[in-house]
Amino acid sequence: TVERTLSIIKPDAVAKNVIGKIYSRFEDAGLRIVAARMAQLSQAEAEGFYAVHSERPFFKDLVAFMTSGPVMIQALEGENAIARNRELMGATNPQEAAPGTIRADFAESIDANAVHGSDGPDTARTEIVYFFGEDALGA
Ligand code: CMP
Repeated sequence: TVERTLSIIKPDAVAKNVIGKIYSRFEDAGLRIVAARMAQLSQAEAEGFYAVHSERPFFKDLVAFMTSGPVMIQALEGENAIARNRELMGATNPQEAAPGTIRADFAESIDANAVHGSDGPDTARTEIVYFFGEDALGA
């Protein structure tokens, strides 16, 4: 099935100047960038995006990190895009991420972990609409 998923290149990876290297991983895996914009998230935007984590102990640090500098936000399209992007990213904690994954190669810590990717079809839809509106959901 051709799907769309929401991806964010986080402030740590933008600061490291590896947007292009990460985009190449998406493209080389057959994922197409169908929407993209750079943004400096406000506290309200970051809190809204991560609302599902609002009761977690790491929520405050997560919002602080995600607003600490510009992020690159994109919708990716391709066959099994949601799972494929999660394979490319590797485990949430870079220390546990498989060799050759984005987080193993570019991330430092569970907070500064280079990328976000939607974890399922429902969150993918919600997250794409959050940043790009209904039109970016595709056909
Ligand atoms: P992300 O996929 O963007 O979703 C929520 C983020 O919270 C996650 O990546 C991590 O960067 C961050 N985070 C910090 N601590 C934890 C934790 N213990 N479990 C899950 N996510 C965490």
